[in-house]
Amino acid sequence: ADLDLISAHVRDVPDFPHPGIIFKDITPLLNHPEAFAVAVRALAAPFRDSGIDHVVGLEARGFIFGAPVAMALGAGFVPARKAGKLPSDTIDQAYDLEYGTATVEIHADAITPGSRVLVVDDVLATGGTGRAAVDLVRKAGGTVVGFSVLMELSALRGREKMPDVEPRTLLSV
Ligand code: PRP
Ligand code: MG
Repeated sequence: ADLDLISAHVRDVPDFPHPGIIFKDITPLLNHPEAFAVAVRALAAPFRDSGIDHVVGLEARGFIFGAPVAMALGAGFVPARKAGKLPSDTIDQAYDLEYGTATVEIHADAITPGSRVLVVDDVLATGGTGRAAVDLVRKAGGTVVGFSVLMELSALRGREKMPDVEPRTLLSV
């Protein structure tokens, strides 16, 4: 029933951002207090007893879920930002986009070596973003305990890019 409440508030938007693409829009979920709360609880639930020290949320939509998941787990929140946004010393990781590459960064002192980290995002598509986040956490000396995602676009097979992490996804479409 929780998953039905979540999926009922994800909206299909045809032809965005390109003709022929059906965009999975999470904004109705965010604007529904019960569905949003259920989603946050479900993202956090498998990791309640995992001793998570930090939750890494991926800019931008991963911030929306990552911050409340961190609070639910009593963990710190670490924003992984697109290049050039963080003010202090950073560690970065490049990843592939449909056209070209992008870079994601965290502050170099954000993850204490040996700490236990959960990565959170809204969507697992090709897996490029999640893969980069996992590699970035490891570069910082953290142990990646899990990758918790609201929705998996299974046809894009992002899961195959991260066999070492076993992504946990609430919905698979
Ligand atoms: C979207 C989504 C995931 C990522 C998944 O982010 O929020 O982070 O794509 O795609 P992948 O598995 O193919 O890497 P996007 O970069 O569009 O930006 P946003 O979160 O800032 O909206
Ligand atoms: Mg994103």
